[in-house]
Amino acid sequence: MERVRRGDVRALARAISVVEDGAEGAAELLAACRASGRSALRIGVTGPPGAGKSTLVDQMVRQFRAQGKTVGVVAVDPSSPYSGGALLGDRIRMAGFAGDEGVYIRSMATRGASGGLAAAAADVCAVMEAAGREVVIVETAGAGQAEVEIARLADVTVVVLAPGMGDEVQSLKAGMMEIADVFAVNKADCEGAERVEVEVRAMQGLGEGWVAPVVRTVATTGEGVAELVRAVERLAAQGAEGRRAREVRGALRFGSLQQRFGEEGARLDHIGIGVRSIAAARGFYEALGLRVSAEETVEHEQVRTAMLPLGETRLELLEATAEDSAIGRFVTKHGEGLHHIAIRVSDVDKAFARLRGDGTRLASDCVRTGAGGHRYFFVHPESAGGVLVEIVGEAARG
Ligand code: CO
Repeated sequence: MERVRRGDVRALARAISVVEDGAEGAAELLAACRASGRSALRIGVTGPPGAGKSTLVDQMVRQFRAQGKTVGVVAVDPSSPYSGGALLGDRIRMAGFAGDEGVYIRSMATRGASGGLAAAAADVCAVMEAAGREVVIVETAGAGQAEVEIARLADVTVVVLAPGMGDEVQSLKAGMMEIADVFAVNKADCEGAERVEVEVRAMQGLGEGWVAPVVRTVATTGEGVAELVRAVERLAAQGAEGRRAREVRGALRFGSLQQRFGEEGARLDHIGIGVRSIAAARGFYEALGLRVSAEETVEHEQVRTAMLPLGETRLELLEATAEDSAIGRFVTKHGEGLHHIAIRVSDVDKAFARLRGDGTRLASDCVRTGAGGHRYFFVHPESAGGVLVEIVGEAARG
């Protein structure tokens, strides 16, 4: 304990192993760490797989080292069977921290229940704090409930998103949106980053009051990372009171959403509007403050689409690329207008089977795969109060 308190890195590593393994003297050691009276700025970094969290964390570490602060990183990967220092040598070397005792990176793998993992991560944080680490970053891989729990250990939580992670920000777990104090839109040099940012802002725009800042970063070059660190420090300066206020805000904004649109609940995904020309139609919606987040042509449906996020849903403008297409025939027959509403369900195949089984008139003979890999089918207006209804499943994530 004496050596831990002096900041001896080898003693720190040993102490963490003792506490993690529950070895002899672990409880005593942990109690002494908790009684050390030292605390660090705790930063949680979480987000879906593939967002570039580790590289971003390494860049944040570099920023804090430039400020002269010592840093501990707890990398939690519930999917990894490994823990300890074994896999981290490469990362430390690649990030250029070899030989810098001011950086200590530790990995943890899942052991038992998610609550157990969160508790174990809290213990490791306490040991790092006792060893005088000024900043402790808890990085979690994945996007499940365990990650959300672990993120709650932090004073400030950064949720990292990136373009190309899946279909939409909207399909992210509400729990993850709820815990974000800062959003980092990483890979900001890649196509689609602006769309991610627009969607995050649209989702947050549902309620009133404080909203989490959105910072664009490019972890591979370090661009935007100084700004991200400043945003984190500003929030940390608000202390426990600020944190509580943010939690209440998050619960109100996203907790209530989760109740309404929880795992099993269906929700409005988008509203499809058939138009003669997207170029002519979008101006009105843009004047209302909506922005086009994505435009694409779906060849097999001979349609061009523009998506405009609107609160928790989107408008989809549809313009035919051929007269003899579904939208082309619709506009010819009825003129421009509401074409369909799309309802998102958790299991599109189950919905298809159930509706077909109970005699609902469907306008699709099977579940099809559309743009961005999302799966859908249509219900005929005859069975849906005169409105064409598209049923879409949760997007395949990867
Ligand atoms: Co649609």
